[in-house]
Amino acid sequence: MKHLLSAADLTREDAITILDTAEELLGVAKRPIKKLPTLRGRTIVNLFFEDSTRTRISFEAAAKRLSADVINFSAKGSSVSKGESLKDTALTLQAMGADAVVIRHHASGAPHRLAHSRWTRGAVVNAGDGTHEHPTQALLDAFTMRSRLGDLAGKNVTIVGDVLHSRVARSNALLLDTLGAEVTLVAPPTLLPVGVESWPVRTSYDLDAEVEKSDAVMMLRVQRERMNASFFPSAREYSRRYGLDLARMNRLPDHAIVMHPGPMNRGMEINADVADSDRSVIVEQVTNGVAVRMAVLYLLLGGATEEETA
Ligand code: CP
Repeated sequence: MKHLLSAADLTREDAITILDTAEELLGVAKRPIKKLPTLRGRTIVNLFFEDSTRTRISFEAAAKRLSADVINFSAKGSSVSKGESLKDTALTLQAMGADAVVIRHHASGAPHRLAHSRWTRGAVVNAGDGTHEHPTQALLDAFTMRSRLGDLAGKNVTIVGDVLHSRVARSNALLLDTLGAEVTLVAPPTLLPVGVESWPVRTSYDLDAEVEKSDAVMMLRVQRERMNASFFPSAREYSRRYGLDLARMNRLPDHAIVMHPGPMNRGMEINADVADSDRSVIVEQVTNGVAVRMAVLYLLLGGATEEETA
């Protein structure tokens, strides 16, 4: 694999290789000196056209722990505000010798455009594009589920909320299917995308009917910034029907875990006491994200010269 653009590009073998590599690399974070020399001399550019806390910091930590040189680009405060295009930004970064570009963009398809252009010779990693995909989030979610629940084959994963605007839901549905899990999407009809019938999932409008069957419940953020219409009557009504509160959490099987990709709307899709409970693996997801992103960068770049990745 030269790029990581979509969870759909990963075979079961690819995904298991990434998860197994991440498991080995997780140990690096526990050492006094959290560094490996693997990517010494390589340059990784974090190209962020959209806000991020977890993903941007996680990729930066991952690249630095592998001893790569890291250039952080944020559209805010750059020449993008003067009208510079993705092409000219990418050409500028290429001229500085980027071996890999980690890109987050508000436009679905931007990482594919970059990967299939001559604007960059390096590997392209999709760090979230519009409402399309977020493959490394799905990988870190799968890693977290596997470490808590064991082999994902046959496990019931319930993904709840704003599926319509969620790149996390799409990447998770694709990857979890590849790994043999059974995925159920729970949302109001207005927040399920057109064409969801072709996804490898079940759908439901009734969270209460799904809770007791779930090995993992993944709550999605209600993405109000992407909403230009009224998708539900009120925040209170949404929380009542689709929010995870203590009463619902207590109906989960004893072994079941609660997940959220972040950032959370506490009190909306998830109550604070659930987010902070023993069943919540939300902080663990962030820790695991660094190891998973180290594995992705290592597998895409480790050992290959710039000419080989061109
Ligand atoms: N989960 C996730 O992508 O979070 P950020 O938007 O903070 O990167």
